Order: sequence, then C-alpha cells, then structure tokens
Amino acid sequence: MNIPVSVAGSSALRSTTVEATVKDIVATAALPLERAITIPREAYVDEEFFRVEARTVLEAGWLCIAHVSQLKETGSFLARELLGEPLLVVRDKTGVIRVLSRACAHRAMDIMPEGFHYPREGKASVLLCPYHHWTYNLDGSLRGCAEMGRAECFDRKDWRLGEFRSEIWKGFIFVNLDGKAPPLSEQYADFAKAVAAWAAEDMEIVISMSWECEFNWKVMIENWMESYHHLGAHRDTLHPSMPGENTWTEPEHPYFIRSHLPFTEELAGRVRAAGEGRGKLPGFYTLPGTSMADRTEWGLYIGYPCFMFLTMSDRVLWYRLEPISANSCKLETMTLVHRDNLKDPDFVETVESEKEALREFHVQDMLVNTAVQRGLKSRKVVRGRLSHLEEPVWLIYRYLSARLRRTYPARAERAPYYGPLARSA
Ligand code: FES
Ligand SMILES: [Fe+2]
Repeated sequence: MNIPVSVAGSSALRSTTVEATVKDIVATAALPLERAITIPREAYVDEEFFRVEARTVLEAGWLCIAHVSQLKETGSFLARELLGEPLLVVRDKTGVIRVLSRACAHRAMDIMPEGFHYPREGKASVLLCPYHHWTYNLDGSLRGCAEMGRAECFDRKDWRLGEFRSEIWKGFIFVNLDGKAPPLSEQYADFAKAVAAWAAEDMEIVISMSWECEFNWKVMIENWMESYHHLGAHRDTLHPSMPGENTWTEPEHPYFIRSHLPFTEELAGRVRAAGEGRGKLPGFYTLPGTSMADRTEWGLYIGYPCFMFLTMSDRVLWYRLEPISANSCKLETMTLVHRDNLKDPDFVETVESEKEALREFHVQDMLVNTAVQRGLKSRKVVRGRLSHLEEPVWLIYRYLSARLRRTYPARAERAPYYGPLARSA
C-alpha cells in the first residue's frame, strides 16, 4: 500500500472537523508497520475530538481506579474523579468493593466535595452529604434524612447513590462508565495468564508519586509502551541495561499489548548468578513464581485503553491515568511488591533508594511528554515516520481506529515481527 502523498510528511493538511480527524486516523492506522506515520495532531490537541474519544474509547472501556490493598477494611474509601464523574470507591459491610457515584440523591451535591475538609481517602462508617445531612450506608442505600415526613409517597428505599459497573482483576479495581463494555475478565483473560506469576492481588503499594500532566493521555501511553526512546531520553538510566534495539512486541491482541525489554547479556548474567546464590541484586525480594526468562527482562503491558502495567523480577509498576482534557491528564505512578517485603529489616532503606531511581526516569518521561505536547500544538508540526521499535505506538493507533468505529482490533495469528521468536516462524 502506498502512503497517501497528501498525508505523509504534510504540514499543510489539517483536519478541520472531528469527522475528518477520525477518517484520517482510520486511514493512517490501516498502513502497515513499515509504512507507518503518526496520526493527526488534532487527535492530541482538539477538545472536540477528545469529547468523542472520551465517549467511544474511554467511557466505553474499563478504567483502573484503585488496588484492593488501598481498601483493606470495612468502610475504607477513596474519592476519585474520572472524566467528570465524582466517584467513591468503598468497601461495604459485606466486604464487597463498590464504585458509587458521589452525586447525592437529594439535590445532586457531590457528597465529598473538596473544601469541606473531607479527606480524599480514609475510613467511614456512614456517608454523609454535608448539604442537608442525608446519610447513606456503605452500599449506597439511604440511611437517614431529616424532615422528609411530609413528602408524599417518599420511601427511603427508593433513594440511593448511583453505582457504576466495576470489576476486580488481579487485585486492580476497574470501572466501566457507560456500563456496556464486554466483561473485563474476558477481555483481560490472556493478559491475566501472562502475569499470573506476579500475583498482583497479593501485593501492596510501597511507592507512589503524583503528577499533574500538561499533555494528552495518548502521549503518555505511547511513551509508556515504546522503548525506542531509551537511546535518547533514558540514555543514562534505562538504556545501559535495556537498550531499545533489543525490545520486541507480541502480535496484535484485541485488548492489550505486550512488549519484552530484555536485559543486556552482562546484566542477565548477574541475575542468573544471583539465582544460583552467587551475589545479591539490589531491590526487593525476587518473586518465587517467576522464571529465569521473566527475571532477565522487563515485561511491558498496556491493557486498553490506558492500564499501564510493568513486571520486574521483584515488583510491578502501575501507572494510574486520569485523562482530563485533550491537553491534560493526571498520573499516579506506583510500585507494588509482595507483602512479605514489609517485614524485611532493610525495607525502608530499599524503598528510599528505589524511589530515587524511579523518580529519575519518571522525570525524564514527564519532560519528554510535556515537550511532545508543545510540539503537537505547533502550526509547523509534521506527520512523522515510525521506527519498527515503535510497533506499540502503531498498535495503539490501530486500537484507537477500531474503537472509533466501535469495534476491536482482530487478534493476529502470526509470529512477532521482531525479536527472538520472529526467526523461528
Ligand atoms: S444535596 Fe445532599 S442532602 Fe441535600
Ligand atoms: Fe520512558
């Protein structure tokens, strides 16, 4: 297939309507990897396009909002905002974790507004709306309301907080805002098998950093999934141990992307030696269920649309993303380890040194992403070409294209394009 001349390398061609942007994305995503170009800038900067994308891609998908370790006891709660929805993630009296709406069933007030000295997380026995003091049980049912005795045909049982459809996958709590997505357990079934050895459901969050981001959510997930940039942005951090040129991606899956980031031979040798009891590696306890192949690479995943998950021999990294507008999002970057680590006498020291190492490469990515968004806003921006190492970016385009047409990508039954398994097919 030829690259359309009017699209490739053109700064003159600009989509002027959302419809044109969608058409352009669909045409661009249909190009083979070897001919791939970037999608139009409007996909990242146009607020009108963002509204369409929010409806067709984000609200129609499963969005991760918490981990079970953040809601250990009855009444544990987290207030979260997601695409304009004020949400409350809470563990009720029966132990069930629910995702409730914070819109009061009386006159709609957010029952946990900022500025009323309500904590954004904690433990509650009842949920109280500060406006007229209607109170709710932890399952969202109305518990009490003063001065309603003269309201005719008013039955407390008819009034409760709204509840969103939620599912727990490997200990992560997901919400589907439009209520119509296929079950997450089906979508992420293969993903669950790939990461079973990490037992993320038994992990605890030990490092967490929050970031206010002035860039589009796709700038974040593209940066997360491609490792071509190790040779540039992470030259002094990740590149020496995991050069981008060794990375490879598994064939297209409708619901997630999996990439492999193998270690250099030198580092892999040290990991193998530690496994045989010669030498100790820095970091947390090695997870016993992982194989030597698992331990000599990082496993990089995105569960569509934006669940960022990375496996290492001793931990999982999870990025929780809140898309806000075309030009902004919030991000929480978290490290989870098996809870046994908490008993280790060196635990606090390990957390501190790991935190510093993580911050270093997180900052590199945040600076890059902010600068990419700045470039995308330029009237001189061009449609760039992709390296084969950016296969995950191409897969994200294909996912976006499919969801904008309310379908999913098809599963590719073939060998990977690159990497050790490519040659054997
Ligand atoms: S709006 Fe909540 S009690 Fe009135
Ligand atoms: Fe990066």
